[in-house]
Amino acid sequence: MSSLVYVLNGPNLNLLGLREPEIYGSTTLDEIAGMLEDRASELDLGIEMRQTNHEGMLVDWLHEAQAEGARAVLLNAAAYTHTSVALLDAIKAITTPVIEVHLSDPKKREEFRHLSYVGMGAAMTVEGHGADSYRIALEAVAAGKV
Ligand code: DQA
Repeated sequence: MSSLVYVLNGPNLNLLGLREPEIYGSTTLDEIAGMLEDRASELDLGIEMRQTNHEGMLVDWLHEAQAEGARAVLLNAAAYTHTSVALLDAIKAITTPVIEVHLSDPKKREEFRHLSYVGMGAAMTVEGHGADSYRIALEAVAAGKV
């Protein structure tokens, strides 16, 4: 079984650390990547960390994760979570398990964030733990929960 885990991040997450820190915290995406790389090597996993502001790129990367035989995908689709049927279809089109990840807990925020297309296809969701949501999701992969 592959040890590679894709970690895909959607729009505006490149601004983590600067962007609404009262909601998303002060940790940057690069710092999250470093923390995940350390944890992944302890768990005998490898990570492929990416960020894009473009919806179709996330679709392409989900297909790539499947083609590369990745063990799982951690997907923080950010705002596309709540709008993108294309992402739901891509998640359903691949057999690679996808874990939906959010720093905040969208269910406790504005009503328009309560609907998650990503969640309709994801094997599990980890949300509301700040940057730790990514670590918790990675540990779920290592524990064989997806
Ligand atoms: C987010 C939650 C989304 O509602 C929001 O659009 C984001 C970030 C999170 O990680 O908490 O951009 O996915």
